[in-house]
Amino acid sequence: MSIRTLDDLLAEGVSGRRVLVRADLNVPLDKQTGAITDDGRIRAVLPTLGALVEAGAKVVVCSHLGRPKGAPDPQFSLGPVAGRLGELLGAPVHFATDTVGDSARSTVADLADGQVALLENLRFNAGETSKDDAERGAFADQLASFGDAYVDDAFGAVHRKHASVFDVPARLPHVAGRLVLREVEVLSKLTGDPERPYVVVLGGSKVSDKLAVIEALLPTVDRLLIGGGMCFTFLKAQGLEVGTSLLEKDMVETCRNLLERSGGKIMLPVDVVVADAFAPDAAHDTVRVDGIPSHRLGLDIGPETVAGFAAALSQAKTIFWNGPMGVFEMPAFAAGTRGVAEAITKADAFSVVGGGDSAAAVRALGLDESSFGHISTGGGASLEYLEGKTLPGIAALEN
Ligand code: 3PG
Ligand code: MG
Repeated sequence: MSIRTLDDLLAEGVSGRRVLVRADLNVPLDKQTGAITDDGRIRAVLPTLGALVEAGAKVVVCSHLGRPKGAPDPQFSLGPVAGRLGELLGAPVHFATDTVGDSARSTVADLADGQVALLENLRFNAGETSKDDAERGAFADQLASFGDAYVDDAFGAVHRKHASVFDVPARLPHVAGRLVLREVEVLSKLTGDPERPYVVVLGGSKVSDKLAVIEALLPTVDRLLIGGGMCFTFLKAQGLEVGTSLLEKDMVETCRNLLERSGGKIMLPVDVVVADAFAPDAAHDTVRVDGIPSHRLGLDIGPETVAGFAAALSQAKTIFWNGPMGVFEMPAFAAGTRGVAEAITKADAFSVVGGGDSAAAVRALGLDESSFGHISTGGGASLEYLEGKTLPGIAALEN
């Protein structure tokens, strides 16, 4: 990779220089309390921030959180994240209550060497996500004025052509942070020459989100295991009835086509857990996929499917997993995701977990993170990388 790295920047010396770091601190929040439910993305950026602090830089961190619509929206404030980041760094984080306004300007101006500031949510500004180059550029000018150098450590956002990801690096000396570097190193092993058998497990709710990656992976993988909400559109494509399960009707034909062209590589569930309703306490049973009652919906893969998937995974030398197998947040429908995750940890393989949801599932289920080869912080980003797409944030670092 012809990209300059944090080590190159550190070698130049950053003491007393302002370093603008784009992080992906888009963490899940509890809907009721607003509390951070998984701080994995905050932890993931600590190596980069710690190195800059130690080297005496004035560290200015920026990030998005959620999808506010280009204007301030308190429920998406990064304030709580500043608190958590400070705890993890063991030093206070100076929080600016706007992104490029008076608060940001004075917060950055007041930073001492080795101190860290966090700007308010980038997406409180329409320029961040604008499709208009000039509007994005104007916002990027303001952001760039806070740094003498730029570090991209926001792997989860490298697939977005946004001002902080794509336009700021055109305005400042730029390098890849430790997280971005590690993510790209790991994922490039999967697109290069993965050790075989290479088994991919895909889940999650929407087939339409995964079609491009399925297309791209089919020629490369040895087996593609499909679970989660998206499996019902595939089951329908096989001519089965799926009751009131999640179904993307306009994708059935595409799924049928994929199954025909897959050369038997795609493995679908043989049994599923069906429930009366989408609720933690709903009555539920395991049924064969050809016996899904018309009034019930599938919320997890069944035990026989888990056993089949586990057998395929036990042979693998390389594994990529993206997307839960069922509604793992509800204990009654968590066994599929847990079973697959455990099978991955037991396999004698290099395993990569892709995506915010699957990474959060690993932690929520209490699984040992260190028994996976790599847990990516990027959902969409890791999928687009595997699709072979040009990622705007990486391309911007290459220039
Ligand atoms: C993510 O959570 O996938 C990243 O933070 C990117 O967020 P976005 O999908 O809202 O751009
Ligand atoms: Mg996302």
